[in-house]
Amino acid sequence: MKPGSMVTLTMNDEGNRWTTRLPSVQATESLGHRIGQQLTGGEIIALRGELGAGKTVFVRGLASGILIDSAVVTSPTFTLIHEYQGRLHLIHADLYRLELPHEWLGLGLQEYFHSSSVVVIEWAERMEDDLPPDRLEIYLEHQQRSSRKATLRSTGPQSRELALKILE
Ligand SMILES: Nc1ncnc2c1ncn2[C@@H]1O[C@H](COP(=O)(O)OP(=O)(O)O)[C@@H](O)[C@H]1O
Ligand SMILES: [Mg+2]
Repeated sequence: MKPGSMVTLTMNDEGNRWTTRLPSVQATESLGHRIGQQLTGGEIIALRGELGAGKTVFVRGLASGILIDSAVVTSPTFTLIHEYQGRLHLIHADLYRLELPHEWLGLGLQEYFHSSSVVVIEWAERMEDDLPPDRLEIYLEHQQRSSRKATLRSTGPQSRELALKILE
């Protein structure tokens, strides 16, 4: 993400959920960037939302927030996992192509769940019951052609602390 292309986001506090409108691709990248900047390692981020909702765009912004060149971040749709090294180690998974319920076990993803790596999972619902209990949930929804809505939710103390830092 280029400096100066950051978009100011307004977060609506709905108790244990936060929503924000993402009126442009840059806004979605900015949300990712803002979250990426607050990461310290070991966080799990579960992304949900239909194809084209902006999950990969979000990850690109998140990568830039941990000093990874966002241009090198591509969708791991076929390889299922990409790894990047910046200020932190980033694991970017996309489970869209998983067909069997426990197929994700073959990916080695769980090795990173208790590590200092940041793990971001597109189509997290494909491993629903096996997701780590403490994770930041982000749901992206289509609004209009170039506008999305993000809903953030924390599911434990680590992700809550992260969410509160993002809201500061
Ligand atoms: N506000 C927005 N946020 C994110 N992507 C957007 C937005 N508006 C339009 N788009 C477009 O939607 C697509 C999102 O693609 P992508 O991030 O790959 O989705 P996903 O990974 O959820 O399938 C891109 O083509 C992007 O240009
Ligand atoms: Mg994607």
